[in-house]
Amino acid sequence: MSQRIFLWALLTSASFTSWATDPFTIELYQTSCNICHGAGVAGAPTSFEPSAWTERLAKGKDVLLQNAISGFKGMPPLGMCSDCTQEDLVDLIDYMSTEQPK
Ligand code: HEC
Repeated sequence: MSQRIFLWALLTSASFTSWATDPFTIELYQTSCNICHGAGVAGAPTSFEPSAWTERLAKGKDVLLQNAISGFKGMPPLGMCSDCTQEDLVDLIDYMSTEQPK
């Protein structure tokens, strides 16, 4: 039993793009980030358009995470997701910066 949980945790924490994003992350995205990133409001990098993220990712994911937490120019602290944990934000950034199947 505990072995199964371990395996599950291992699989869900890996951020290979071929793994489907878990529904919780998608829900957080829809309720918090999509308002601005869906359409690229105020210069926000557009979601699911890897080219919009290349320059950002080049700064390093830890920098992006820090900026998402503390805010960055037009980007509000935590992306207005006051309930998001650091792990949630990591998942969200992975989700938003990669192409997603429709
Ligand atoms: C109120 C609008 C708004 C919301 C809501 C929002 N963002 Fe942003 N975000 C922005 C804008 C604008 C930028 C671009 C800032 C710039 O570089 O000028 C940005 C940039 C970013 C960046 C790149 C930061 C960098 O260092 O280049 C990340 C990562 C990010 N947002 C993640 C998120 C996540 C995750 C959420 C949801 C939890 C979210 N954002 C919600 C407006 C928003």
